[in-house]
Amino acid sequence: MISFVGAGPGAPDLITLRGAARLAAADVVVWASSLVPRAVLDHANPSAVVHDSAGMTLEDVLGVYEQHPGAAIVRLHSGDPSVYGAIQEQIDWCVAEERDFEIVPGVSSLGAAAAAAGCELTVPGLAQSVVITRLAGRTASSMPERQSVASFAAHGATLAVFLSAAQPRELQQSLLGPDSAFDGATPALIVVRASWPDQRVVWTTVGRLAADLAATGARTTVLVLVGPALGRDRPDSLRSHLYDPGWAHLFRRRSRPGSTEGRPIPGAAERRVGSGPFPPGVSR
Ligand SMILES: C[S@@+](CC[C@H](N)C(=O)[O-])C[C@H]1O[C@@H](n2cnc3c(N)ncnc32)[C@H](O)[C@@H]1O
Repeated sequence: MISFVGAGPGAPDLITLRGAARLAAADVVVWASSLVPRAVLDHANPSAVVHDSAGMTLEDVLGVYEQHPGAAIVRLHSGDPSVYGAIQEQIDWCVAEERDFEIVPGVSSLGAAAAAAGCELTVPGLAQSVVITRLAGRTASSMPERQSVASFAAHGATLAVFLSAAQPRELQQSLLGPDSAFDGATPALIVVRASWPDQRVVWTTVGRLAADLAATGARTTVLVLVGPALGRDRPDSLRSHLYDPGWAHLFRRRSRPGSTEGRPIPGAAERRVGSGPFPPGVSR
């Protein structure tokens, strides 16, 4: 069996229980040292044969699978394997070679970055959609038409921009194109190495994004989040219907007539003045 396991964003305790169990039972582990800290390998059996995929091609990795037809193999991918994991080509090989495989999901850096910043990406009235995207970079040919960052910026949804930290100016320009719903004051977040011991969170705006991103000095393992949902200046009425006492749904009756729309949300005032509390490592 070949298990494509999501290692999580970096912290060794953010791998799932199933992922850790697969590592503990693996005879062979292929991991990406460029994105997954060595500490995650502490979950593996010390006698497992470990290959670092950082210097390997797809053919090299498939060669390892071929050499171990009956073994329990774990291919460790950063975050969740379904997001820029390059697993499809390996799955196609498994199907063609009639090799059993499974995917063990993981905690994506998307969730880890939001957690590091202490924020929600889908705030009612401001953003109810999250777009996972990237700049074309060196792989421009793999970017389908009509899926540019600029085209998604026109929607005003929360954007999660992966794999683009090395192009700060191009990213800012794409976010401020003629059709963009964003402007220079739109909130943006730069999260470097979310959940790693040296995690950094920088609160900024689209107008300052290029300068602040370049100033981090980080080019990889950086996620940029953009959109009005990330702002601290929200109208008080923007609370979720789900927990509104005046709102009934399948699992809860309305507890009293009337809605709380327009009432202050507990803690909202403190959050607006930016006094925190923010998790460790968050700078504003
Ligand atoms: C090849 S993609 C893999 C994404 C991964 N599958 C996931 O779910 O997070 C690598 C990119 O993910 C982002 N990334 C991965 N881990 C990260 C982390 N701990 N903090 C911030 N960004 C991260 C960066 O944009 C990085 O360039």
